[in-house]
Amino acid sequence: MVYRALYRTVFTRIDPEQAHHWAFAAMRTAARVPPVAALTRRLFVAGDPRLRTRVLGMDLPGPLGLAAGFDKDGLGIEALGNLGFCFVEVGTVTALPQPGNARPRLARLTADRAIVNRMGFNNSGAEAVARRLRQLRAVPPRYPVAIGVNIGKSKVVDEADAAADYATSARLLAPYADYLVVNVSSPNTPGLRDLQAVDKLRPVLEAVREAADAAAHRHVPLLVKIAPDLSDEDVDAVADLALETGLDGIVATNTTIAREGLRTPPAEVEAAGGGGLSGAPLKDRSLEVLRRLSTRTTDRLVLVSVGGIETSADVAARLEAGASLVQAYTAFVYEGPAWPRRVLEGLAASRTRRRSDPTA
Ligand code: FNR
Repeated sequence: MVYRALYRTVFTRIDPEQAHHWAFAAMRTAARVPPVAALTRRLFVAGDPRLRTRVLGMDLPGPLGLAAGFDKDGLGIEALGNLGFCFVEVGTVTALPQPGNARPRLARLTADRAIVNRMGFNNSGAEAVARRLRQLRAVPPRYPVAIGVNIGKSKVVDEADAAADYATSARLLAPYADYLVVNVSSPNTPGLRDLQAVDKLRPVLEAVREAADAAAHRHVPLLVKIAPDLSDEDVDAVADLALETGLDGIVATNTTIAREGLRTPPAEVEAAGGGGLSGAPLKDRSLEVLRRLSTRTTDRLVLVSVGGIETSADVAARLEAGASLVQAYTAFVYEGPAWPRRVLEGLAASRTRRRSDPTA
């Protein structure tokens, strides 16, 4: 309620990227003051033992994580844990620091509960993020949060050198990651999504796997993140490759370049510009891709479902369809800090209902 009023009166009137910046800064400030952090947790963390989830070597308080892109530099992992996320995927981080695309590069399509972004992997680079994560890991946290690290190709690096560029990020970041994601599916780095073709993806995955495990002196769970715009055959091909190369899982999906079926007037969609669309319009395709992956991989891979998740029913549907974990970004922006707890408590309640009434 409070958040929606704030959203309507303040956030919709300021530049969306500035709103993100301020909101995230406020979360981090709250996390630095111990009594405020404790109060935040009391308000926003679900903490229901029925939700405990063990996957990829992690013991999580629940299956809901924050998707990549919100905390690109690993600046507010604990703060986001205080808001009820059970794990946080940092990034996308690139080997070289880069400013991303020119602003404006973020727009809301409120009528569709969607966002269009063409951020272009703005981030402070693998070395700086690794330094920050090392510091975070050096102090035993009061409230530990599992950390995934999502890596991408530096913009200035040629496609031919992509494997080495990804491997550099893996070497620097894997020691601090609970799992690593190779992102080959953002629409905002020219040519990046071409790396989803099996012959190009194989060397990238092999180089990253080797670099990650060698640098961390352990097996670092490795996943690949794919686009919803892949054809069904290409989804199958990536699934087969993931199995063949011994990957641990797949994150599906990233944002879409499609703009079909939107409620927002075409002129407004046009004004939002190019880039990836996230949120509610992604729901059906994201679930479809998950189902396809699940059929193809039959429990041999961990599937992380992301794209258009808004309610506890959405989460339940993804888990039912074969996901072990779910993530979201856009619904958190529209619904605010109470959203993770609301969704997780709804999920816990639905599990109890099902146990007591098998027809429910
Ligand atoms: C993203 N997403 C994203 N994904 C990724 O792998 N690396 C990234 O850097 C980003 N950056 C990013 C920025 C913004 C502003 C948004 C909205 C999204 C994609 C994100 O992780 C997720 O896959 C999609 O947004 C779909 O989930 P939701 O938003 O529909 O829950």
